Amino acid sequence: MAFLNDNYLKLKAGYLFPEIARRVNAFCEANPVGKARLIRCGIGDVTEPLPPAVIQAMHKALDEQASHNTFRGYGPEQGYSFLRQAIAQNDYRARGIAIADDEIFVSDGSKCDCGNILDILGHQNRTGIPDPVYPVYVDTNVMAGHTGAADDAGVYAELCYLPGNAENGFVPHPPASEKLDLAYLCFPNNPTGAVATHEQLKCWVDYALANDTLLLFDAAYEAYIQNPALPRSIYEIPGAQRCAIEFRSFSKNGGFTGVRCAFTVVPKELTARAADGNRVPLHGLWVRRTSTKFNGTSYIVQRGAEAIYSDEGRAQVKALVKHYMGNATLLREAATTIGLRVFGGENAPYIWARTPQDLGSWDFFDKMLHEANVVVTPGSGFGKAGEGYFRLSSFNSSENAIEVARRLKALV
Ligand code: MLT
Repeated sequence: MAFLNDNYLKLKAGYLFPEIARRVNAFCEANPVGKARLIRCGIGDVTEPLPPAVIQAMHKALDEQASHNTFRGYGPEQGYSFLRQAIAQNDYRARGIAIADDEIFVSDGSKCDCGNILDILGHQNRTGIPDPVYPVYVDTNVMAGHTGAADDAGVYAELCYLPGNAENGFVPHPPASEKLDLAYLCFPNNPTGAVATHEQLKCWVDYALANDTLLLFDAAYEAYIQNPALPRSIYEIPGAQRCAIEFRSFSKNGGFTGVRCAFTVVPKELTARAADGNRVPLHGLWVRRTSTKFNGTSYIVQRGAEAIYSDEGRAQVKALVKHYMGNATLLREAATTIGLRVFGGENAPYIWARTPQDLGSWDFFDKMLHEANVVVTPGSGFGKAGEGYFRLSSFNSSENAIEVARRLKALV
């Protein structure tokens, strides 16, 4: 008889988005009229077509696969040098951050990278998790056996929760008296849309350097930052290359949610402690891990991602971001008009708002689904501190965003 990984039995309910899908499907089956009116502002999945520069590059790459002279089989597991170079140059060196090409690891998604990174990190780590948070950070730690059991509220023993709230603007402070080994940060934040300032990130980097903490910084939404004074990368903070791994994605800037391409930055200076007390560079371990468990992102997809850095690609991505941020402005304004306490939506594609009349998150989800036929994401799905909030995604057509704003105003 095969034994299973018992850690999976510690997981609370299903992953948030499948659970939402289950409820929405049940609603649609029972309400054909509501189904026809349904607008989804739940999962942050892009709706607009890929940038033409990407399409063109992918067509060309596909044609190369049709000839013996240009056909490519397995690629380098860490990514083709053309893409690693384009990323390191454009996202980092052009902004004054010294990241080498081989510190970039191309992958098929940030969700995978955030989970996979735990392969090279020990189960003993004391891990800081913001609350509310992107559920993938918590669940992958549970699956890897890096937590204890959950209580009835879904709070896992052995994780250190870092509360985000209206008072701290959903940017948790480093703990005052606790020494973390690992801490997750995500800015612009999913789900709250908060963005940490330079000073706030510096507090985290100073804390990490003083306490020997490894920061796992998720910057999947950096393209949505409108305010040029806000940091787009943790490496804008001096010293971060000695204490932080950064995750980035092409999903939300280039619309690659269905194409799949992302990257992780693992600076060579970064080390962690082995059981014998020696410091070991994480870079080599991550090379080893990717070489063993991954055969690389497809050539066609990487050529598509490279096109995002061309002049046309940049302009097209800018237009996509402008489109979604236009929706964010509309939705933010609607939620504010009806008197809700609203966060995010200014430098991020997510609007995070307090529910009206202190409704519970899932109660408001049901109200929106049944009365307005709009799918939102219940804040409690992102952790205990998300209770009493809901998230609106601005990834939609303009028509849908206008209609959701109208229905929201009519609802409350
Ligand atoms: C979300 O809605 O939170 C995102 O789509 C999650 C993701 O990017 O995996």
